[in-house]
Amino acid sequence: MKEAEAGKQILELATGLVKDELDLVEDEIRKRFRSKVPLIRNVASYLLEGGGKRIRPALHLLSFRLCNGKGNRAIPVAAALEFLHNATLLHDDVVDGADLRRGKQAANLRYGNQQSVLTGDFLVTRVFGILVEDGDLDLLSLIADITARMAEGEALELSLTSSDVPDEKHYLEVISEKTAVLFAASCEAAAILAGVKEARKPLWEYGMGFGMAFQLVDDLLDYLGTKDMLGKPVGGDLAEGKLTLPLLLAFKKSGNEAKALLDRMVFGEIREDDITLAANLIKNTGAHEITLRRAKDYSRKAIESIATLPASRERTALKDLARFCTDRNF
Ligand code: IPE
Ligand code: IPE
Ligand code: MG
Ligand code: MG
Repeated sequence: MKEAEAGKQILELATGLVKDELDLVEDEIRKRFRSKVPLIRNVASYLLEGGGKRIRPALHLLSFRLCNGKGNRAIPVAAALEFLHNATLLHDDVVDGADLRRGKQAANLRYGNQQSVLTGDFLVTRVFGILVEDGDLDLLSLIADITARMAEGEALELSLTSSDVPDEKHYLEVISEKTAVLFAASCEAAAILAGVKEARKPLWEYGMGFGMAFQLVDDLLDYLGTKDMLGKPVGGDLAEGKLTLPLLLAFKKSGNEAKALLDRMVFGEIREDDITLAANLIKNTGAHEITLRRAKDYSRKAIESIATLPASRERTALKDLARFCTDRNF
């Protein structure tokens, strides 16, 4: 786990400014996922207390401080954002047939698909409970909107298959909807809570850029990372027949070797050594560099988006985090 530990230290440094608030968010999380139904409680606690980088809460809290937000409203909202993220992970792992999450057996394997889906639903209801308690209609409307978009994104992703090779535009739309909008809303929500209207758009844009870069790197690490780094298996996308940008680009640039691999993906006949083949293809065709360059472009856009907001330690931390997300190895 050495590489992952080094990466975590960088993350801790950048989120250090909001460390105390993040501890409060942990208390809030523990307080709020309780259910009178033991199975829901168990599945929620298994996932929520089993690690996770807490990046969305950190971005929310940093954005709130950047906007000079006062009071405690950001704490439950940060917990709600983490709930929403965890609900999508529970659902996503069922959809993807995942077996490992956060270094442990995935909840769908341990408790079953039905329990995972229902606990995911329960967590979404907790999200809206928290938002109703807060009472801000703009906030409620923002989160309702992105929750629908994320469900649409996951559904759209089902068409990113090898049998009908998607184009890059389609791929980018999927990751924008399934992943980036939650990062964007985590940042914009802070401007709403702080009552700083003019910061809403820049923070949304920052989160979109961050989220796009984050998912691009996630998709690259799915080929070039290690299980120890990620706490989830390598080669999952290949095994599922899901075509993400690194392989999409590699296919565009290669010949027969890739054609045979593509055929095996289409017919669900991926072999154990295909992950090495695909990783080599991605490296040898330069698809690796192109994907990383794309991620860096988005990360740069994220940084530029907040250039108009007043300089502060929080703004610097957000910039550092955007840079970290393309250098990360976990
Ligand atoms: C994983 O998100 C899902 C993606 C959007 C790629 P994270 O990498 O933030 O997951 P945790 O919360 O740290 O486990
Ligand atoms: C991101 O998709 C998950 C969500 C946005 C719910 P992936 O399927 O690529 O994420 P991992 O690899 O399972 O974390
Ligand atoms: Mg998945
Ligand atoms: Mg998925």
